[in-house]
Amino acid sequence: MALQKNYPKYTASVTQQHWCHGILQRRSTWGRKERKRMKMLGMVVAIGRVAMGSLGGNVQAEVTKAPFGTTTVGEHTGKQVDVYTLKDAALEVKVITLGARLMAVNAPDKNGKKADVVLGHPDLAGYEADRDTYFGAVVGRYGNRIAKGQFTIDGKQYDVPVNNNGQSLHGGLEGFDNRIWSAKQIPDGVEMTLVSPDGDQGYPGTLTAHVRYTLKGPDLRIDYSATTDKATVLNLTNHAYFNLAGEGNGTILDEKITINADRYTPVSSVLIPTGDLPSVAGTPFDFRTPHVIGERIEAENEQLKIAGGYDHNWVLNGPNGTMKMAAKVVDPKSGRTLTVSTTEPGVQFYTGNFIKDGAITGTGGQAYVRRGGFCLETQHYPDSPNHPAFPSTLLQPGQTMHSTTVFSFGVEK
Ligand code: GLA
Repeated sequence: MALQKNYPKYTASVTQQHWCHGILQRRSTWGRKERKRMKMLGMVVAIGRVAMGSLGGNVQAEVTKAPFGTTTVGEHTGKQVDVYTLKDAALEVKVITLGARLMAVNAPDKNGKKADVVLGHPDLAGYEADRDTYFGAVVGRYGNRIAKGQFTIDGKQYDVPVNNNGQSLHGGLEGFDNRIWSAKQIPDGVEMTLVSPDGDQGYPGTLTAHVRYTLKGPDLRIDYSATTDKATVLNLTNHAYFNLAGEGNGTILDEKITINADRYTPVSSVLIPTGDLPSVAGTPFDFRTPHVIGERIEAENEQLKIAGGYDHNWVLNGPNGTMKMAAKVVDPKSGRTLTVSTTEPGVQFYTGNFIKDGAITGTGGQAYVRRGGFCLETQHYPDSPNHPAFPSTLLQPGQTMHSTTVFSFGVEK
């Protein structure tokens, strides 16, 4: 299917809003009560941020760099991977240059006890051996799936590798998760850069991508930007798995999630969006009010059966291209909270259905279990290049793609 011409492309700035699709611009069908509730939630988050900010938000984060290991696999063999540590009064964050991965976030619970809330591997060999989970990685060029690995730009068909049930997942066989990014220290964080050559994994154009991780008080902010020298498609996201009870501490099924979305994108049997954007009302996909993740995950619902749990894209309320709340998760036991805000139009809520019980020993030495982490991958919708009605993922020469996501950590007593 050809891409719609004259379709608004990536904006030059995240503050511009003309990039969103008609469906998203329609007035939200969300009830007044829910809107009020979400507004209240936003206010609570804002107050929490101010409180946490006063603990450390005005002081610059300390940033240090150390060698993480030397690669032993593939074209990068013998290359050094570094780990950057970002530290302030509230959090300690680790990011590695292999896949620009978020490796760890040490966050306090309601009693001030810190735990790493991000799933990861203890060493580089672990990351190199694992080609399934995408732990913490920046996935690209195209996060999530492209149907049959095919799309068309300006009448020309492109074929990208099919690596998942006959579909292309997360950029193909050698996606951005498996590249060593160059890195430099910036105020409060680190900037990672990757130049993906023209034809890389079948995608057109030399793409230069920058990902900046910065830490300010309780907020871990990720800024993405990219340019190309030929028209191409792009969907960058971060694939971190969180467990607010601490990585390796059982499943996330008791954690409670709210998702700021009236609609979602149901999928076919191979997890490709059907193109419909139905309401979540009356389904296990309705997280407009908080629900425990495990409450309805085994419900008699075709979509849940297809994906083995939640592994879907929610259509976020609010304009594409401006910051809005995507989701909030609370772990009732530890009191830790995670609030995700983004300029992206969608979020993939994935409940770690493909993690195999006991197959991975995580960062802290504990074996991970199925559904031992959840992902909130802020993104454009899966398979957008084949759905002209979805917000466009086309990037043209001369344009710069900008996208921002903030993971904000807090506590509720
Ligand atoms: C995404 C996909 C899932 C799965 C994971 C990686 O979230 O939607 O189906 O492939 O990545 O395991």
